[in-house]
Amino acid sequence: MIHLKPKQVLVALDFDSYEQAITVSRNLDPNKFRLKVGKQLFSAEGPKILDNFHKQGFEVFLDLKLHDIPNTVYKTLKNIFSFGVWMTNIHLLGGIEMIQAAKEAQLDSDKENLLIGVTVLTSLKDSHLKEIGIMKDINSLVSKLSLAAKQASLDGVVCSVHEVKKIKKDFGLDFLTVTPGIRLKQEKGDQMRAASLETAVKENTDYIVLGREISQAEDISKMINKLESYII
Ligand code: C5P
Repeated sequence: MIHLKPKQVLVALDFDSYEQAITVSRNLDPNKFRLKVGKQLFSAEGPKILDNFHKQGFEVFLDLKLHDIPNTVYKTLKNIFSFGVWMTNIHLLGGIEMIQAAKEAQLDSDKENLLIGVTVLTSLKDSHLKEIGIMKDINSLVSKLSLAAKQASLDGVVCSVHEVKKIKKDFGLDFLTVTPGIRLKQEKGDQMRAASLETAVKENTDYIVLGREISQAEDISKMINKLESYII
């Protein structure tokens, strides 16, 4: 039996408009689920969409995976933190200085928020890294980038379910793991390092990102009811 904690599932609203996004969010109880707003919806609707969801009582993970020069990341994060989001992220491949600048922005913010770093996208496998000249295998790169995040006192990382155990062992149980690429039954599609919901729970990941499993479900409310039945 699968046991989920309340608000452990972050529902990815990967849509082009608020009207489309609410086809999913109106079925969700903010006491049971959090929302993830990514580049697609944010670039279509802008920050006002966050106000809408906050007013409805949702906590939001703003997933923009910032990757830029340190000064730009610092200033962008200052803006993002002012929106009052629960969590946001940077891409750890931006380098140590960029990671430190991001942490500084978090410390300079007067709002409570979590800052996490993306290690290696779950759509990538070893051969994809080689294609772009990265000769490290995924596991070593994920470890190296997680260490950088830990050393800069970030709150955790985005990684695949398969990497959670090692990250928790190396960096402690309170170093958060956010894991996308979770499938219930569907094909893994573009997610190369996918895992089942059962495995995600077994591996004790902190947060589970579910996107298309909900948004492309034949019956969205049935799928959400099923997930709710796992929450204890
Ligand atoms: O539809 P699916 O469940 O695959 O959605 C995954 C979501 O998680 C998408 O919004 C995607 O941008 C995000 N994500 C990811 N891999 C990462 C980080 C975030 O798939 N490493």
